[in-house]
This record gives sequence, C-alpha cells and structure tokens, in this order.
Amino acid sequence: MEQRIEELIAHMTLEEKAAQMVQVPYNQVTREEALEWAKKGAGSFLHVLGDEARELQAAAVKSRLGVPVLFGIDAIHGHGLNDHATIFPSQLALACSWDLELCTEMGHVTAREVATDGLHWTFSPVLCLARDLRWGRVDETFGEDAVLSGELGAAVIKGYQGDDLSAPDSILACAKHYIGYGEAVGARDACDTEITFRKLKDIFVIPFRKAVEAGCATVMTAYGSVDGTPFTISRKAMKELLREELGFQGFVVTDWDNVASLVTKQYVCENLAEASKKSAEAGNDMIMTTTAFFEEVIRLVRDGKLKEKVIDDAVRHILTVKLRMGLFEQPEKKGIPGCIGCEEHLETAKEAARESIVLLKNNGILPLRNRKRIAVIGPNADDIKAQYGDWTYFTHPNFHEKKIPVRPYVTVLEGIRRIAEVEDTEISYIKGCGVLSERDDAVEQAVALAKECDTIVFVPGDNVALHGEFHDRANLELSGKQEELYLALRKTGIPLVTLLVTSKPLCIPKEAESDALVIAFNGGMFGGQAAAEVLFGRYNPCGRLPVSFPYHSGQLPVYYNCLPGWHGGKYVDFPAEPLFSFGEGLSYTKFHYENLRFSADSLLAEIDLTNAGDRTGSEVVQVYFRDVVSSVMTPVKKLIAFRRVTLAPGETRTIGFQLRREDFALVDEQERTVTEPGEFILMVGHSSKTEDLIQTGFYLNDQSDKSDL
Ligand code: BGC
Repeated sequence: MEQRIEELIAHMTLEEKAAQMVQVPYNQVTREEALEWAKKGAGSFLHVLGDEARELQAAAVKSRLGVPVLFGIDAIHGHGLNDHATIFPSQLALACSWDLELCTEMGHVTAREVATDGLHWTFSPVLCLARDLRWGRVDETFGEDAVLSGELGAAVIKGYQGDDLSAPDSILACAKHYIGYGEAVGARDACDTEITFRKLKDIFVIPFRKAVEAGCATVMTAYGSVDGTPFTISRKAMKELLREELGFQGFVVTDWDNVASLVTKQYVCENLAEASKKSAEAGNDMIMTTTAFFEEVIRLVRDGKLKEKVIDDAVRHILTVKLRMGLFEQPEKKGIPGCIGCEEHLETAKEAARESIVLLKNNGILPLRNRKRIAVIGPNADDIKAQYGDWTYFTHPNFHEKKIPVRPYVTVLEGIRRIAEVEDTEISYIKGCGVLSERDDAVEQAVALAKECDTIVFVPGDNVALHGEFHDRANLELSGKQEELYLALRKTGIPLVTLLVTSKPLCIPKEAESDALVIAFNGGMFGGQAAAEVLFGRYNPCGRLPVSFPYHSGQLPVYYNCLPGWHGGKYVDFPAEPLFSFGEGLSYTKFHYENLRFSADSLLAEIDLTNAGDRTGSEVVQVYFRDVVSSVMTPVKKLIAFRRVTLAPGETRTIGFQLRREDFALVDEQERTVTEPGEFILMVGHSSKTEDLIQTGFYLNDQSDKSDL
C-alpha cells in the first residue's frame, strides 16, 4: 500500500495534490462548479447525498489520475440529513444508556444507511465534554465525563468503521472537535478556552486517546483556541499531542472554514496565504470549505514559502485512508440496498430510545395504573421537531428546513394514547403554552382541562430555537410561560408527573418537586413511545445521567469531578451539589450493593449486586476513585470504569472490574502522565453521589505491589 501511495504522489502535480486537501461544501457551489472541483481532484465534498454524489464521483474517477472523492456528512444521530433515514436519540440521550453494545449497534445501523446513500464518512462522534451547560451543543456530546465519553465514543466508532473499512457498509468516523471545544469561556461557542496543556492532557485528551486506540480514521479540528492560539494552528495540539503522543494515523480535517476564520474572526493571520500556510504546517490535512486554500498553497509552494513536503504529508494521510477504504477499486459505497429506515433499523432506534429515558424521581405514582383520565399538557408533548433535536434534515439550514418529518415516529402524546387505549384510560391533550411564547389564555385553559382529570403528565422542554450551534443560553430555566404553567397545574393538587423533553439539562428545581420526574433527552423517532412505555411501566427505566443538572445557571459548572479546596464549600444562596448528579437514575426495581473487595496486587475490584425488587431491571455499576495526596490537585472523585448489568428479581451477581495501574494516572506539572504511588480510595455504587457509593482504601507503591489498607 505504501508503495502504491508513494508512486501516486510522485505522479501527482502540485495542483492535484493541493486539490486533495480541499473539501468542497456542495451547498455553496453550483452543480457546474462542483463538477469542476471533482474533475480537478478535490479530496472530498460535504453535504451531498445520493445521486448528486454519484454524479460527482463519476467525474472524479474520470479525471487524469482518477482518485475517488470522499463524501462526508453529519450523520450525528442516525443519517438524519436524509429524510427517510432512521433517527436515533441524540448523542447525549444515547449516553444515558451507558451501553457500549447499543452504541456500536447505533453506529453500525448509521453506517449502513450512510453507505447505502453512496457516502463514506460521518462527522461523528463528538468527544467534547459538556461541562458548562449553557453551551448550545451539549446535546451532541456524551456528557461531562472524559472516561464515559471515551468508552461510548470508541464503541460508536467501532460501529461506524467495523473491522474492515472496505466493507460495503462501513464508513469513516471522525472524532471531533479536537480539542477542548466545549470548554469555551462563558460557554460561548467557538470562543477561547482557558485550558492549560497540562489540563488538556489530563482531561480533554482522554476520549480522543480512546478514539485513536479504536482506530478512528479521521479527526476534526475545533473552532476555538487554547490560551490564545487557535486549535487550527496549534502545532503542539496537532503534531506533538495528536500525532506524536497519541499516535494518530489517519487524517485531520478542519471544521467549517477554520482557515478563513484565522483571518476574519480570530485575527491571528493577516491574509489567507498566511492562514493557509500555518494551517497546513500545523497538521491539517483536509481543509473544510475554505476552497481558496487551493490557490494559496500552490502559490506558497511555488514562491518557496511552503515546503512541498507539507502538502505531500497531508496527501499521504488522505490517500492512505482512501486506499484502506478500497475506494480505488470500488469508489462508491454500496451499503445494503433497501436498508434505509428498514424495520430492523427502526427496532434498534426504539431500543436506543428506551435506554435513553432517565427516571429521576418517583413518589410511587409511576408506573401509572388504573388512571381514568390523564391530562397531557405542555409544548413538547406533541412536537416531533423538539423530540428529534438538532442535525436532522428539517433542523439543518443546508437541507430542507421546511419539510415535514417523515413517519414512522411517535410523539409523547401519541405514545401515551396508544397505551391508554389498551388500558382503558381517557387522554385529554392541550399544549398549554409554547416553548417560547403562547396566547395569554392558554395556561387557564390547560388548568381547566387538568381539573377534569385525575393525573397530569406535564411535558415542558426546549427546542432548536434554544440549542445548537450559535444558540448558547445564559439562562437555563424553563423558557416562555412553561414555569407559570407548571405552577398553575401544581396548584390544582392533582397528581403530576413532569416529563422533560429537552436537548440538555435545564434548571428545574420546582418541577423536581412533581410526584415523578422523567427526563427524555432528544429521543429521535421513538422518544415519545419510549417515554410512554416508561410512564405506564411497560419498560423498566434504566437510563443514568451522563451529565449533572444544576439548580441554577449561576451554579455552573457543576460537574461531579471538581477539584477540592472551595472555601465555604457552597454558594451562600445555593448548595454546592447539583440538583441531580452524574450517574443518577432510578428503576422500578431496587439494587443493593455489598461486599466491596479490592486488591492492590491484582487491581481486581469486585462487588456483589442484588436485584432486591420484584422486576427484572438493569443497573449501571459505577467505579470511581480518588487519589488522596498527589503532586497536582486531583478531582474529589473520578470515574474509572462502569458496567451495565441486567438482573432478574432476587438475583445476586458478583461484578468484577479488572483495573490497570494507568487508570489511576494523573498528568503532573511537567505534563507527564504518571501513576503516583500512595494512598487511593476506590468507590463503587449506583451514582457519583457519595451516599450511593461503597468505598475502600488502598496503597499503590512504586513497584505497583502490595498492601491493602
Ligand atoms: C460543525 C461541525 C460539523 C461541520 C460540518 C460545523 O459547523 O462545528 O460539527 O461537522 O459544521 O457540517
């Protein structure tokens, strides 16, 4: 393969090589311009589907060297930009499952559908951490924890890529956005981050390391900057950390117009020539949308201002991936004809939606039984767009914003109605108010309807007007009149369940006082059905929060793995703890933990888990640790391992975790990753809350042997 690539590079003109580095945005050029780009050897196009992609590929393979193009798409939770595809829960919703197999299956289904559309590459998974929840893109992440994000991300990558990139139904994954993007100051999308390199390596690199280990073929550069240097031109982040330290072998693509942004938004380059030179030298192999890069680098090389080797290296990275994909033999991915939106895929989406539901409070009202008449009230009860969330064909401006979602899908209202019909329960529905605003009398009408019922299911939340790129929020309270509606409904004294359909955690301390609280992050096609199944006990909820819920936006950040040392330990007007913590989630059965054993010799942790209730249920066993004294400050608690386990009523099982010494590592002042000898505490249990964990202490010595406390 190496020889073939070197021969090809040797035959390529400078123009052909520069073109390989360009990714053309299909929606921003005319069809003729796109064909021109294909003929001159553009490396890739993004946001083009089906036959239009096939036409471009035909032009590319007829070009002088016939190097096939790669087609990239944002298949973020399913191949959502195709209007007949299977739409999965958002990444955050999927993360509630803590289920690696499910993540792989989601990736696999998505890959089959993307490949069947003739495309090769999805810009997924997102490995940014959601630590400041005001950020508009929290829904795209796996939540706040680096280890959880890394494990789930690697599982999804496995699903996209499979074992063989040349298989007809495998596509390239893209770990993005490298790196620290979610950590922008004030949660202002794409702004500077205040992360040091030590901290980058200690926390934010963890999921990317996992992605690289999983063989992720591509990585996307983040928009933001680290300590004033845009990631796009951070040689330290790209060359030293990604290539040299992590050993990344694939190719790097910039994010949208990153190169031009160096001139127009970040003001670190005088002109496009300088921006192109610095971006190429930092290690960006493919340039998304800044097509002028093409002329600039040709001129730079001709003028002796950029070494041709820089271009050759980038082209080598790109061609290696194309060759591994078998594109030269088979330029078009064949996929599995007829699989887009097929029954089998929809079943996987249903299962994913079920596992994404998190029950956070239940005073006994759930599961709903023997109800005569239920009032379903709230803006997100019957809003499929709010349920889908971002990155679907009708939420994305480049696609068909005005289109009506294609069936099959099930909203909450519909899901409730279907079950109620069988249970002989009457359902009355009124929206009550919008997510943003509504008529003045709507709240009164909702209260009047509620008074005729014996139960209220209140369904508030947010929608794409309030999240996504360019949509950061300062205030995470329920928007519009939703809080007013809640308080009015609560005042009736009728038993009330709040079912929050939301892109991300909102501040809902009052709603948390409902008789039951259920969280449904953007659940995709079957989010409504899954929520209804949980409400009526048809499905035993098993979701666990991958992200904490604050009481108030002013409490942010509120992630569980904070550093110690806060004078006072809380705000004077709010507690230190979140309203709901990372890892929390209830079930209709109860789990008991006992008998934690850990040996510092073997690093094997074991605990006995019993299903003490009368229903089969799934628990996520979570393992955390604390480094008691360390050379740099370390978190009060850090997730180290987890496992999802299903137990029958009365069943007890010993759950074992084989840990490794490097799992206890930190990044020291010299930016070295080391496991420092000394005392540690291991904690195992149901959530990140101290009261949910059983703990034991142990020592790690220099030789990694001996002595339990
Ligand atoms: C986003 C990326 C996305 C790209 C292509 C950018 O604005 O930040 O996540 O993959 O657009 O659509």
